Amino acid sequence: MTIVTSALELYESRTPTSRRLFDEARALIPGGVSRATLAFEPYPFYAAAASGATITDVDGNDYLDLVNNYTSLPHGHGHAATTRAAVEQLSVSSAIGTAHALEADYARELRQRIPAAQRLHFTTTGSEAVAFAVRLARAATGRTRVLKFEGGFHGSHNELYQDIAVLPELSPGAAQPARPASAGLEPTGTITAVYNDLDSVRAAFAQWGQEIAVVVVEPFLGNGALIAAESDFLDVVFECAAAAGALVLFDEIQSLRADYSGAQGRWGYRPDLVALGKIMGGGHALAAFGGRADLFGALEGASPAVLQTGTFTATPMALAAGRAAMAELDRSAYSVLERRTERLREGIRATFAAAGVPVHVNGLGSMFNISITEEEVRSYRAYRAADATLFSALRLEMLVRGVLVMPRGTGCLSTAVTENDVDRVLVALEEGLAAVAGKR
Ligand SMILES: Cc1ncc(COP(=O)(O)O)c(C=O)c1O
Repeated sequence: MTIVTSALELYESRTPTSRRLFDEARALIPGGVSRATLAFEPYPFYAAAASGATITDVDGNDYLDLVNNYTSLPHGHGHAATTRAAVEQLSVSSAIGTAHALEADYARELRQRIPAAQRLHFTTTGSEAVAFAVRLARAATGRTRVLKFEGGFHGSHNELYQDIAVLPELSPGAAQPARPASAGLEPTGTITAVYNDLDSVRAAFAQWGQEIAVVVVEPFLGNGALIAAESDFLDVVFECAAAAGALVLFDEIQSLRADYSGAQGRWGYRPDLVALGKIMGGGHALAAFGGRADLFGALEGASPAVLQTGTFTATPMALAAGRAAMAELDRSAYSVLERRTERLREGIRATFAAAGVPVHVNGLGSMFNISITEEEVRSYRAYRAADATLFSALRLEMLVRGVLVMPRGTGCLSTAVTENDVDRVLVALEEGLAAVAGKR
């Protein structure tokens, strides 16, 4: 008889088929999975089925899904209206290669939510949406540099795959040429500044202001503990950009989850450009970039012309599914999600307090992030100083209790998550904290 002594052993003993599939895949697919985000130690479990808020793995274990394909599923798995719309469209054609009325229908609905998107183009991924928006900004300004913030993730293209998931290097108030976050990237003209640091923004504009085409900024650092942009920081971003003749691009690819009209609607900002993605596809590959009508003239052949195309851009199936999913995400659905998530955020704080473990919980709308630290997490530096090792142990404890959150401590609720599920998460957390108590 095997005596199970740790969460790691328990996980391994319950997931032998996942281990075998992972080992087999690794011989062909370096890292085991093409999407680096999905790999975690000792190996990810392999999904066999999913329904609502539950994923079932190939060994029959169930997990409450608080990852939701990295925040992109608003309603969990197999949502009835989304599935119906996708299947109906699939029976006609998933991808057509000629114009389709759904495109303008959905564009109209998105503009009603996000007035800054006076004009928009669809893309397949969020990475493309940001890349094309940057291309448009460069064409419009005749400048080349992009300003981004340390820890900010905006997709995998060259200019913005910089200074992500690295230990903070910038000192407060500083800005510098960006460092690539992957081998094989060409040097770019991207500049990195410190998020939520007014002096750093001013320093970047003082040195490169006349060369900056666009500032790319997330309303919260989606990959950095969901640290929210402070209003004086965003005010300085807009002021400096306006004074220097640069544009501001809000990357709302994750933060469309925060509110019906995104963070810009919630906080009353009107960026020149906006990137949308994730939930707007209802689980399908669909994203968009939008912005001021005058900027979008370049996509209609005005000089200088900007080209955008892609074989799987705005497929009718993704448009149909995305529209159906978002139609059920009205203001009241957002407020139910937010209330439920706020109860979870409060519950997490209380559970950590009862266990005597310090925590900082961030999050807006339906998202939460757990950082094990005494410090308030308002800067990327503070987030990276949190105890990631202890969190990994805690995450595994939660996983073997059937609760799935991201390795970086972030999670989100879909509309399929119930109040009972929230209670289950808090029980798993309480037990998990008791199990890791000795590891501090
Ligand atoms: C804020 C933000 N921007 C851009 C992207 C890139 O989107 P995609 O993965 O669809 O290319 C992501 C994806 O996680 C994101 O969170």
